[in-house]
Amino acid sequence: MMILKTSEQIEQMKAAGAILAACHRKIAKLIRPGITTWEIDQFVEEYLAEHGATPEQKGYHGYPYATCASVNDVICHGFPRKEPLLEGDIVTIDMVVNLNGWLADSAWSYAVGTVSPEAKRLLEVTEKSLYLGIEQAVAGNRIGDISHAIQSYAQQHGYSVVREFTGHGIGQSIHEEPYVPHFGPPGRGPLLKEGMVITIEPMLNIGTYHATIDEDGWTARTRDGKLSAQYEHTIAITADGPLILTKQ
Ligand code: MF3
Ligand code: CO
Repeated sequence: MMILKTSEQIEQMKAAGAILAACHRKIAKLIRPGITTWEIDQFVEEYLAEHGATPEQKGYHGYPYATCASVNDVICHGFPRKEPLLEGDIVTIDMVVNLNGWLADSAWSYAVGTVSPEAKRLLEVTEKSLYLGIEQAVAGNRIGDISHAIQSYAQQHGYSVVREFTGHGIGQSIHEEPYVPHFGPPGRGPLLKEGMVITIEPMLNIGTYHATIDEDGWTARTRDGKLSAQYEHTIAITADGPLILTKQ
């Protein structure tokens, strides 16, 4: 079922999104060689508590942490670890913030120190693909218009788009309808309407789009071990166009 939100509810989600965005800005300053994703996860727990919010991912279908921390070939849902990040790594930090029962979801990929030109370009193209998807998030378009904008840009730059994980509706629960694939033909899928709130969260890979899941049941990696990056915003569809609720 698709749950349309009132402008008051969207304001509540925007308040959650503002905390999330500010938290990402802090993380950007913390990321450097030597820090662990465990420490970042601890930081996020404290930051959210100080701001009257809670980490919605913790306990979601048994997921054990506040954040997902996905390093290099990990596509998504990596566990925070006590192993230090190394110069040249890329790491995606993903979290869902709950403020007074309303949610916002945003993932961001970060470079650790200086990264290779290949990694840097992957980050740039993935971030740009998110914004091209967001441009299509207007009432009257269809989900497929978002999907197509992302996939065509990614493929023009030689990258593949992950298929196993999609964006989604969000509100008082993390995953609602509609689902938002980051690949597929334009003009298809559910019609976008004012009051819909969705995530757009493209994961782009240097090699194959195929994923494998680790023994922990969560960590999704590229099958060929090549790099993967992800950027995600929570977007409201409004009369004035797409409104980014997690804008940094
Ligand atoms: N934030 C994720 C998303 O973008 C959801 C994470 S699933 C969890 O859809 F179990 F890790 F919480
Ligand atoms: Co997310």
